Amino acid sequence: MKQVTAFIEKKKQEFAKTPFMKFLQDKSIDPRQRLTWAPAFAPFAMSFKDLNRNLLRQEPATSKLQEMINQHTYEDGRHWVWFLQDMKVMGYDHSINFTDTLKFLWGEETIKVRQMAYDLFAICTFEEDILMKLVVIESIEATGNVALYEIAQVAKELQQITKQHHPYFGESHFAKETGHIQADMDDVEYFVESIQLTEAQRKKAFMLVEKVFADFTEAMSEMLVFAQKHPYDQPFKS
Ligand SMILES: [Fe+2]
Repeated sequence: MKQVTAFIEKKKQEFAKTPFMKFLQDKSIDPRQRLTWAPAFAPFAMSFKDLNRNLLRQEPATSKLQEMINQHTYEDGRHWVWFLQDMKVMGYDHSINFTDTLKFLWGEETIKVRQMAYDLFAICTFEEDILMKLVVIESIEATGNVALYEIAQVAKELQQITKQHHPYFGESHFAKETGHIQADMDDVEYFVESIQLTEAQRKKAFMLVEKVFADFTEAMSEMLVFAQKHPYDQPFKS
């Protein structure tokens, strides 16, 4: 797995240099505007709950690794509650028509965000090798680690304006995302790296890492476009 984790690290460095990250770092733009894409990220933030509960978790666990994955899903599968809280705090909880809400969530501007969720569901539904599920989790966690760090920096500025804590976009969420599977174990990184893969597994793992990062990169660049098109106080107007 060492080669796979090294590859994830490489992809992580690339992801950190994407235009979306540069946008988050651009202090000349109002922090509220830099996070205007947040409501459009809802299809993924909310689907993530089901991905964890329905596809990654398997109770009772029949292996140490499944037990770790289960622990991970109980943690990461509840972060959507924080997302809802952030929507409130950011002022996006005003009522819009139900049909407009549906059009927004399943609209043209969130296609990639939804696709990312669909792809992860597809991969995890039909994947029987638990090690490949671990590779998917590790890849997701790597992207989350990079993105949540940058987002938390913006949330710090945002907090000066809202005077409120942002549980999803703020630093406390980043602190929970170590960049690796979140399991109750001393050296998770070492554990993951020490796993032996066959040549076929390694090949597939590389493909999965590539896919997860490609999806996140596309979804976040879609979010960048969204933020550039919508004023922060009117994200639902197309
Ligand atoms: Fe999370």
